[in-house]
Amino acid sequence: MADLHDQRILILDFGGQTTQLIARRVRECGVFCEIHPWDISDDAVNAFKATGVILSGGPESVLAENAPTIPNAVLTLGTPILGICYGMQAMVHQLGGEVRAQASHSEFGYAQVDVLEQAPLFAGLQDKVQDSKPQLDVWMSHGDRVESLPEGYTLIGTSENAPCAIIANEQQRCYGIQFHPEVTHTIQGAKILERFVIEVCGCEGLWTPGNIIDDAIARVQASVGDEEVILGLSGGVDSSVVAALLHKAIGKQLTCVFVDNGLLRLNEGDQVMKTFSENMGVKVIRVNAEERFLNALAGVADPEAKRKVIGNLFIEVFEEEAEKLSNAKWLAQGTIYPDVIESAASTSGSAHLIKSHHNVGGLPSDMRLKLVEPLRELFKDEVRTIGVDLGLPAEMVQRHPFPGPGLGVRILGAINKEFADILREADAIFIDALRAHDLYDKVSQAFTVFLPIKSVGVTGDGRRYDYVVALRAVETVDFMTARAAQLPWDFLDEVSRKICNSIPRISRVTYDISSKPPATIEWE
Ligand code: XMP
Repeated sequence: MADLHDQRILILDFGGQTTQLIARRVRECGVFCEIHPWDISDDAVNAFKATGVILSGGPESVLAENAPTIPNAVLTLGTPILGICYGMQAMVHQLGGEVRAQASHSEFGYAQVDVLEQAPLFAGLQDKVQDSKPQLDVWMSHGDRVESLPEGYTLIGTSENAPCAIIANEQQRCYGIQFHPEVTHTIQGAKILERFVIEVCGCEGLWTPGNIIDDAIARVQASVGDEEVILGLSGGVDSSVVAALLHKAIGKQLTCVFVDNGLLRLNEGDQVMKTFSENMGVKVIRVNAEERFLNALAGVADPEAKRKVIGNLFIEVFEEEAEKLSNAKWLAQGTIYPDVIESAASTSGSAHLIKSHHNVGGLPSDMRLKLVEPLRELFKDEVRTIGVDLGLPAEMVQRHPFPGPGLGVRILGAINKEFADILREADAIFIDALRAHDLYDKVSQAFTVFLPIKSVGVTGDGRRYDYVVALRAVETVDFMTARAAQLPWDFLDEVSRKICNSIPRISRVTYDISSKPPATIEWE
């Protein structure tokens, strides 16, 4: 098989909100790509050996002082280029055309582009026909606009507020589009990106789940050889897929350590053991550390202090187990591509371009183990797809995210076993009901929060004075912003009744309707 990475698209990030979406669309075409910040060196551009380059959008103006620019090496590479929004304006500005600020003509949201001239990138693509000209329904987000084209470029399409909405230099196979093809509101967007990477750049679509798995297995085998590997298995999607992949690659050379910290969901520990140990034959050591965690957390009420106790104790327990496996030379991790992009950005000079995220964890500096991270190149949706291909239950692979500190950040204030048990039961009722009503996959994340306050209630046999839980369900794309899901009233009513009827220690159920911002998704 040809190396999957031989055909590769370089995506330069100018700080656009949707740069990762561009990469995901390219991957969906079966083509490998990487995102790098726009200030990548010329040497790094040349070393990348791109089959084509895509320039992302961005929040700045090419007319501003110190505006981000396209590296010279990209403009002289001789490979096809697709400039999107800011990327197009930077091409025009640097190649001798004119970009002008047009505060009164900015375009945000839906727009129509008339395709004047058929370029291969757009041939046959249309959403409507107006005066016998094809029209595209697109999504725009720009203030400045291109007024005149660089030499060698022709005008392909125009919209009401962007007279130069599509431009092309067919000889050099360079294109600029003012709108965003990566968002679904641009109806032909995915097709345009596919045309660019497959037809213009000549990529063959080798990046398929089967090939990704074969490639990852071959690479793990080549680096690990006959040495042993340990993996901290949490039951979350990423570590589960790493376990399945490594099991396929190196079988018994893999040992997983599953730390049950007492802050897991109902029956989660047993499910993890069943899936991996019983069904798949993976070597898993289960460490029952509930008491140790709850003792360490006793009386700790501050959210950040709780996170620290849980995180540090996890490392301690994991290291103790690792010590016992004296043959292990490798530590496997479920790092995925968005973690890599975000942590790379925070060490480069252009950190302000990309938001940082608290999931990017640190490793002990004195670590004796070598790292193996087989998902480093993959987006979450790719991880899920290969997880299913590797034989993991779809239900496990499609699960909502669950925070590292588990129920620890869903029990407000100090934690004890009674609170954790009540929360586990209530949460299971909510999640089971979501699944039964076909709502689980319609929300991005759903869970229950335990409030250690008492409220009066009345039941058939008298007065109750007991705890309160809050249900939370959100819709989000990136977990940076979110809105409360508008779950049907009848459904919430049913869940509330089920919880109060079957858990005597709960007197009241509330539904959290806050958005993020100003609230966060978790309560702590
Ligand atoms: P917030 O509450 O910050 O959550 O709006 C955004 C997403 O991150 C998850 N989350 C965490 N994940 N360790 C994690 O591994 C944490 O400490 C943590 N805190 C929040 C949260 O579940 C949501 O998906």
